[in-house]
Amino acid sequence: MRNSRLRPVKITGLSTYVPPRVLTNADLERMVDTSNEWILQRTGIRERHIADPGTATSDLATRAVQSALQEARVAPERIGFIVVGTTTPDTIFPSTACMVQNNIGARHAWGFDLGAACSGFTYALTTAAQMVATGAHDYALAVGADVMSSIIDYTDRTTCVLFGDGAGAAVLGPAEEGEPHIIDFAHEIDGSGGAALMMPAGGSRLPASHETIDKRLHYVKQDGAVVFKFAVKKTEEISRRLLDRHGIDPSQIDLFVSHQANRRIIEAATERLGLAPDKVVINLEKYGNTTAGTIPLALADARREGRLKKGDLVLLASVGAGFTVGAVLLRWSL
Ligand code: UT7
Repeated sequence: MRNSRLRPVKITGLSTYVPPRVLTNADLERMVDTSNEWILQRTGIRERHIADPGTATSDLATRAVQSALQEARVAPERIGFIVVGTTTPDTIFPSTACMVQNNIGARHAWGFDLGAACSGFTYALTTAAQMVATGAHDYALAVGADVMSSIIDYTDRTTCVLFGDGAGAAVLGPAEEGEPHIIDFAHEIDGSGGAALMMPAGGSRLPASHETIDKRLHYVKQDGAVVFKFAVKKTEEISRRLLDRHGIDPSQIDLFVSHQANRRIIEAATERLGLAPDKVVINLEKYGNTTAGTIPLALADARREGRLKKGDLVLLASVGAGFTVGAVLLRWSL
């Protein structure tokens, strides 16, 4: 996007999907030693949507993609590229992107899954945007989707209250000269933080065995305090870096949409950035942390509430396991 030979890219359709079943804080009170007060006060979450057994990430992603394509008025055959940011693929292989491609009938597409945890959507957006910017493809899909309930230990109160299931998809296409478009991105990874948030078993390091199951190693393990501090610091840092590059003061942002993990993380980071609360989207009370789904879900809610208008200057930001860090700056195009 910094190369002047690249063409401008815009979001031409955005949609989301969450499974209908709701798991409330009251439900969790009956499952683990927790309370509605603790969850609300420490995280801001009231409820989350949970997929029924047998429902996989591609099922959620396909629903989101189909309605995003409808809004964009782009036929599936015109999609050249599909990237799915997910931590909970249907299977280790084949990729969820292949399943979505088949479900929607995108006969001319190629694509893959992208592992960036909670930065799944920002990284997918950037990756797909590059495919359109270079002219390699006219239309691309950026998807963020997770069925976190498939890797959450519902006997561990430190993690099970945090996560939910959900998906979002953006259709990307070329923007006309002067039209609102994606302006730039800043991304970084820091593998030294890997141990703070991970699923220890099920990969090549510790393949599934009776022992890994007995030790409950196929679930999310998190050092919450470490992730919390890193998320606050890096959300501010990556946002400033991207804005500084364009000589934009945070006060010029119309809407800040970050990953939704914890209300206190978003409030602390945006306070440091000096953003007024009315410019910040927080919708995690309804969905919890849906990992790659949070940013499209927050964008969709902001649109529904009339908080997002064509031409608005929008900053997306995410921090996730890895660690992965990302920000995308755009003019809203829908
Ligand atoms: O998307 C990236 C992924 N994750 C995140 O961004 C999450 C980042 N971290 C966080 O959001 C917060 O660290 C948590 C919400 C996970 C935890 O909040 P905290 O304020 O850091 O609490 P804590 O871990 O320091 O725990 C405080 C106390 C502990 O009890 P003791 O040791 O003080 O007696 C915990 O055992 O709260 C206890 N606790 C709970 N109590 C009731 C932990 N979870 C619960 C719970 N219900 N669900």
